[in-house]
Amino acid sequence: MRPGRTVDPGDAIMAVRREEFIPDEIFVRGEHGHLVPLNRKDAPELWQEQVQLDEPVVVQVRPDPTLPPDLCDPATGQGMESTSSSSQPSLMVEMIGMLGLERGMRALEIGTGTGYNAALLAYLLGSDNVVSVEIDEELAAHARSALERAGYPVRVITGSGKDGYAPAAPYDAVIVTAAAHTVPYAWVEQTRPGGVILVPWAETVHPDGRLARFVVKADGTAEGRFIAQAFFMPLRDQRVLPRAGFDAVERWIRSGAPDFTRYGITVTAEEQTIWLDVPDNVIASTERP
Ligand SMILES: C[S@@+](CC[C@H](N)C(=O)[O-])C[C@H]1O[C@@H](n2cnc3c(N)ncnc32)[C@H](O)[C@@H]1O
Repeated sequence: MRPGRTVDPGDAIMAVRREEFIPDEIFVRGEHGHLVPLNRKDAPELWQEQVQLDEPVVVQVRPDPTLPPDLCDPATGQGMESTSSSSQPSLMVEMIGMLGLERGMRALEIGTGTGYNAALLAYLLGSDNVVSVEIDEELAAHARSALERAGYPVRVITGSGKDGYAPAAPYDAVIVTAAAHTVPYAWVEQTRPGGVILVPWAETVHPDGRLARFVVKADGTAEGRFIAQAFFMPLRDQRVLPRAGFDAVERWIRSGAPDFTRYGITVTAEEQTIWLDVPDNVIASTERP
């Protein structure tokens, strides 16, 4: 591929082997629907089957912090929730496609997880042009070595994605692979004007529309719209209470149940506003602390 040419995420999915990024222990839904461990050594064929499916693969769980501890049991999976997964490959292809990447562009990923999506980006852009941030030290270490081994030595930063990664900015694109309800201004600040920020959205606006695509403007603000449906686990520092989802559904019904594509979000250094149809029709606004 020549510099400046649009890249095709379908090429990356054919070239990068997902199994090189999935750890030996994964978690699958057991007979009661709970997440139970499945070890590659104990069940190599089942493990392979899970990894080959076009489905998310859960790679880390923890007791659901909203439940009493005695209701959570890692052995049976009861009360355990997923805290990291390798996202569905076809969704990754779709999301990377929404970034409008060209060879030589620079991308920041928030939520490294297994490192698989970082490898897809590195295949398309070159490893030097990709930075990925993961909040969990253990996951970051696993991803770093899997990326090295697979030949995509992406820079993996351990830390909270809310800070982005200023030393390698500006980016042409930021792709977030966990859900947010607020866009940290660092993501806007670190993206060049005209660059794209793709954020799975928490259930705070619409029951369906969950993927917001922002374009950064020359005045240092970003404007986005909901463009697709997608469901992601929340960023660890952006969990929402179930109440926020109920409130959003109530507000949505009161507005006449508009299609998700009618909602937009404006992000500035001072605040974030969510609007319906036009930026002046604000339905929620959050000032930064
Ligand atoms: C759905 S997984 C990401 C999948 C990943 N892109 C892949 O290809 O395997 C979401 C990841 O986001 C990470 N995460 C959650 N909150 C974060 C935060 N505030 N900053 C950075 N990473 C975070 C989780 O630890 C988890 O690994």
